[in-house]
Amino acid sequence: MRVGVIGAGMYANLSLNNYVAAGVEVVSVCDVVPERAKAAAETFGVPNVDATHEELLERAEIDLVHVVVPPVYLATISRDVIAAGKNVLSEKPLGVSAEEAADLLQRAEAAGVVHAVGHEMRYDPLHRHAKNLVAEGFIGRPVVVNARDFTNYATNPKFSTFYSCWPRMVADGGGVMQQHLSHTIDLIQSIVGPITEATGRATTYQTTAQVLDPSISPAKLFELGAEAPTIGTVEVDGDDVVTVLATTATGAVLTVSSGWTVQHPTGLAWEIHGTEGILTLDGEGVLRGARSGEELRELTATEDVGVQGAPDLLRRCGLGVAEPMHLPFMFQEFARDLSQVIAGKRETGAYATFRDGLATRRAMDQVERSTVRA
Ligand SMILES: NC(=O)c1ccc[n+]([C@@H]2O[C@H](COP(=O)([O-])OP(=O)(O)OC[C@H]3O[C@@H](n4cnc5c(N)ncnc54)[C@H](O)[C@@H]3O)[C@@H](O)[C@H]2O)c1
Repeated sequence: MRVGVIGAGMYANLSLNNYVAAGVEVVSVCDVVPERAKAAAETFGVPNVDATHEELLERAEIDLVHVVVPPVYLATISRDVIAAGKNVLSEKPLGVSAEEAADLLQRAEAAGVVHAVGHEMRYDPLHRHAKNLVAEGFIGRPVVVNARDFTNYATNPKFSTFYSCWPRMVADGGGVMQQHLSHTIDLIQSIVGPITEATGRATTYQTTAQVLDPSISPAKLFELGAEAPTIGTVEVDGDDVVTVLATTATGAVLTVSSGWTVQHPTGLAWEIHGTEGILTLDGEGVLRGARSGEELRELTATEDVGVQGAPDLLRRCGLGVAEPMHLPFMFQEFARDLSQVIAGKRETGAYATFRDGLATRRAMDQVERSTVRA
């Protein structure tokens, strides 16, 4: 699989790092700030830098275009990618509204291209295992889901997210719901099916963010880490705490909560009660399950969905420790899966398609409409 990357900011650099680690060939990168594209290409050995995304799309050898720009530009560029007949990986969330997401889905299907949304957390082995168990009927029909994910990605300078301001601004598609809870909603939907009704509440309790020194390229954040220079603070209005109450197509009732500025991150955890059993994932990254009449016991992922040590992987991911989240493993699995589908070796993968992205977008739109901002 040969990839072109549009955008060379914080997450594009993380992605390039992971493409290299996964042995995926990246053909070209572009950014409206040319220095960023040049710095990323130099750092990760990408042979070409294009001046515009239109130029990048003219490269016949590119199989997949990864669109890694802020949310307000994702749909416009993804439409151009589809029009060029390229397979597309749009970052999350898909579009700024359900209408935009539906339009992207319709275009991608009509063009017959492979379409995916950047929800790499689906490739956590324990989640894949849980998804398979639910599909096999381990818990019967899911009836209640209670999930939460509390991190300090937006307030701990050890995370590169700390240095981006737009993810904290509503007008730019920021806020913890769009930027982080969207992953959790996608995960839970991938396990128990699509949400049909959603409502919620959100608030902002930390109203300032640090501004990265503009002379620092996002490619440098890897080595600088918590030492990256900032030039002051800016007022932000994006939600940093959110709770969603939802119902799925099969009648399961969900609560999903998230925050990314909490003082003591407790990580990702959930419980899924079914008509015939239960699955739980605790904040330490331990998956447990039981069928009716059984004692709750620890479950480990099967080899086909992951690696040994998966609980450790998830624990470190969910608790927001200093190192970059163990994103690499999940991202690399994602890239491998996508490349198999693009090569025609499999019809579908485990990734979120634009149809899944639309379901998440619909749920978030419903929550936005019902939220009164503090
Ligand atoms: N999947 C994940 O876990 C994950 C994590 C973080 C961010 N993201 C997503 O990645 C995207 C980028 O986030 P980020 O934190 O890297 O933002 P960023 O601001 O650090 O980088 C975005 C880059 O896009 C460039 N850009 C804007 N318009 C462009 C255009 N028309 N053509 C080319 N480049 C353009 C900007 O100059 C900037 O360098 C967002 O959509 C975000 O939601 C995903």
